[in-house]
Amino acid sequence: MYKVKSGEILSKKIGAIVVGIFEDDKKPEGIIKEIDQKLDGAIVELLAEKQISASLKKVGKLHTLGKLETKAIYFVGLGKKCDLTFEKAREAFAVMTKELKKDLCSEVAIAFDSFLNVSESSNKFAKALAESIGLASYRTENYKETADTKTSLEKVFVYTSENEEAVEENLAIGYAYSTGTNLARTLVNTPANFMTPTDLAAKAKEIADRYGMEYSVLEREDMEKLGMGALLAVAKGSDQPPKMIVLKYRGKEKWENVLSFVGKGLTFDSGGISIKPALNMHEMKMDMGGAASVLGAMETIGALKPDANVMAVIPSTENLVNGSALKPGDVIKAMSGKTIEVRNTDAEGRLILADGVAYAKQLGADYIVDIATLTGAVIVALAGVSTGAVTNDEDFVEDVLVSAGEAGEYLWRLPNFEPYKEMLRTSDVADLNNSPGREGGSITAGLFIGEFVGDTPWVHLDIAGTGWTRKDSVFGPKGGTGAMVRTLATLARNF
Ligand code: BES
Ligand code: MN
Ligand code: ZN
Repeated sequence: MYKVKSGEILSKKIGAIVVGIFEDDKKPEGIIKEIDQKLDGAIVELLAEKQISASLKKVGKLHTLGKLETKAIYFVGLGKKCDLTFEKAREAFAVMTKELKKDLCSEVAIAFDSFLNVSESSNKFAKALAESIGLASYRTENYKETADTKTSLEKVFVYTSENEEAVEENLAIGYAYSTGTNLARTLVNTPANFMTPTDLAAKAKEIADRYGMEYSVLEREDMEKLGMGALLAVAKGSDQPPKMIVLKYRGKEKWENVLSFVGKGLTFDSGGISIKPALNMHEMKMDMGGAASVLGAMETIGALKPDANVMAVIPSTENLVNGSALKPGDVIKAMSGKTIEVRNTDAEGRLILADGVAYAKQLGADYIVDIATLTGAVIVALAGVSTGAVTNDEDFVEDVLVSAGEAGEYLWRLPNFEPYKEMLRTSDVADLNNSPGREGGSITAGLFIGEFVGDTPWVHLDIAGTGWTRKDSVFGPKGGTGAMVRTLATLARNF
């Protein structure tokens, strides 16, 4: 909970106060000067002795020993005033949150003005603050007997002399971005036995109910009638019923100019008959990361209510092995009518997305962003740093890249030249080959989906590297990252 206040922060009785401190502040000013005076010059001394540092992302803590109403003051280093950007502020706030979380602070007051500079608006700082606190406070649920139920930062008081309404509004925006991202993280982190296609559909319905969106789902029989042979082919190997999940958010009076997000909802990827090695296979519960990011974005969109029409389409199934499973060499027919030779059953994401984008088009999508944990090759190309993009539309991809920049997420384009598309037409028996080889693997995988998109402006996002991390960071623990939630939500708000 965030509360914006305009009064005297130092007269507040509270466990902790946070102030920002710049390297340029040779002589303390403003709130820091006030604190320094109340502590008989201790701050100047501690700064000189480097016990408190103004270097970016350094956090110093000081007990006030009863000399102030607050028990402790946290000094957050912000570096040089002119260098502090939105991204750096996000990191500084995240480091701050980590420290407060470590100390189990449940309430904190923030001297917001001490963080401001002239190069970024106070609105951006307010957004960064709430977003970072939300992201950095995320905890992964576990199923241990001694589950960690500690909560921190339940109340955040933001003291400022800036326009209160504007600060409040931007805190709400940042909070909504973090909530959507955290929702996606939780969906990804949930074990696959608790996150089947049926469970994923139930989660989508919860979001629809929360925000008054339209929810619908196709069952196996519906898919058969519509000829979704690609999704059904993957689903054959699983006992779990497949789902095609649809959410519609109407932000305009008319259902036009529809922005559609199509997310890969592969709730567990064993590889199928082309089975994956056992090592790290457990991580393949994350293969519904695209669907999770779409649902996270819908959560954020539901909260922020942009005036755009947004439709989520999520093809969902498991990729397993049983006596009826899809086999290498099988030829299947997608909803669009194109035939596919399945050279590798582990290249299943592009199969279910082929029917996903075809269905989105049938439902009236005018713009399509598909998002998927699609290829190991994208990790080779871009590491876990940047999401990879493939497109058929120069203008639309520019919009998506700009939104990623605003959201503070890394996104990089891969080429879409004709010879890459030719690599897909290398089956002797079908229109397309689902696995044309290791070389350029992320490009051909993306362009495979593009074969089912036609002329609709389209951007494909491969989050196989960015959707999951094996390392804790200041923004959150290892596991699902909620990559591209903020980019998709920003795109919808800019639309
Ligand atoms: N879900 C995987 C991609 C993946 C790999 C996600 C690593 C996260 C981490 C996808 O279904 C897959 O198996 N792709 C194959 C494609 C290949 C068989 C053409 C791959 O990348 O190896
Ligand atoms: Mn696979
Ligand atoms: Zn997969």
